[in-house]
Amino acid sequence: MATQAEAAAMRHALALAVRGLGFTSPNPVVGCVVIDAAGRTVGEGYHQRAGGPHAEVHALRAAGDLARGATAVVTLEPCNHTGRTGPCAQALVDAGIARVVYAVGDPNPQATGGATTLRAAGVDVEAGLLEAEGEAANAAWLTSVRRGRPHVTWKYAATLDGRTAAADGSSRWITSAESRADVHRLRAECDAVVVGSGTQRADDPHLAVRGVEGARQPLRVVVDTHGTAVRPGARVLDDAAPTLIAVAADAAPVPSGADTVRLPRAAGGLDIAALLAALHARGVRSVLLEGGATLAGAFVAAGAVDRVVGYLAPALLGAGPAVLSGGGITTVTEALRLDMTEAVRVGPDLRITATLATKEH
Ligand SMILES: NC(=O)c1ccc[n+]([C@@H]2O[C@H](COP(=O)([O-])OP(=O)(O)OC[C@H]3O[C@@H](n4cnc5c(N)ncnc54)[C@H](OP(=O)(O)O)[C@@H]3O)[C@@H](O)[C@H]2O)c1
Repeated sequence: MATQAEAAAMRHALALAVRGLGFTSPNPVVGCVVIDAAGRTVGEGYHQRAGGPHAEVHALRAAGDLARGATAVVTLEPCNHTGRTGPCAQALVDAGIARVVYAVGDPNPQATGGATTLRAAGVDVEAGLLEAEGEAANAAWLTSVRRGRPHVTWKYAATLDGRTAAADGSSRWITSAESRADVHRLRAECDAVVVGSGTQRADDPHLAVRGVEGARQPLRVVVDTHGTAVRPGARVLDDAAPTLIAVAADAAPVPSGADTVRLPRAAGGLDIAALLAALHARGVRSVLLEGGATLAGAFVAAGAVDRVVGYLAPALLGAGPAVLSGGGITTVTEALRLDMTEAVRVGPDLRITATLATKEH
């Protein structure tokens, strides 16, 4: 049974872990807190960037000799493999750690087995402390390992009556400046930002991160079957971030000369599963889908939306396109039901976050 001090340490380790969001891909985010027999923190750390030391290594370094006989509380099962850094399970054994408590087992076939190594070395191991919170913190990485495709967050902005544009098609600044700033934070946490050709034509979006200190820029992706929506001079073609245009296998070369990926066609445009597989192959573990309604419907129909973040403005339009179009749902019993994980005010707006279960059933 985990102690109260271990539970408190795990909460702190989770808070440390999420500081790495946006910086560790293709690795998970991980936090680690080392506590002594009295429950005092003697070392802590988190995985700050891919290629850098793992959380356990930071925490063990901070603890020094105090690690001997102490308990390491980690958000993810310590890894068992030698990658760019050594195996953490062995580092914990070498430091003299007596007990390891972790939240989520490592599903990565190359890294799993840390608990077995620890137990074989005589370390007391307990799994599953605050597991749901640990799953949520690492949702993007866990989805990408379990499903072999990036985790997808569909983000939209709408009026209280669910419109994303007015009857005349105007749609700029439905939500507040505060919500728009918040979207930049979301972008900074993802490896790629995706829009459809309709949004590209209507809005000429920029899609890079602005106003988030130290942010890593995501890959900007336009899903553009015929390769005609991104014109030379389009804002996505500036040098603020890399850009990829997804086109059909038989499309003519794109006029801008931008980087393209060629994909099979499907009903409505391109094959969404093939798009996600191509992004995964390029190292993308998390996608922010920024619309519009038609492309979002195709992602829903493909079973490729894991999380929805909706920004609702206290405004009414009465007419105009809805946030989601299509999706393959025809009757209420087929409604895609999600768990609301958060509802917060952002400036004058409401931000609602809802997720699908991350575990395979
Ligand atoms: N409020 C918001 O949150 C928000 C966000 C984004 C956009 N918008 C607004 O939404 C409007 C644009 O939305 P939209 O629905 O017209 O366009 P969209 O969803 O951005 O793009 C749809 C297009 O994507 C291409 N596509 C490629 N593969 C597809 C597939 N498998 N399934 C479906 N489409 C696929 C198709 O065009 P091709 O055949 O040319 O490839 C399709 O017409 C604009 O007015 C924009 O301002 C609002």
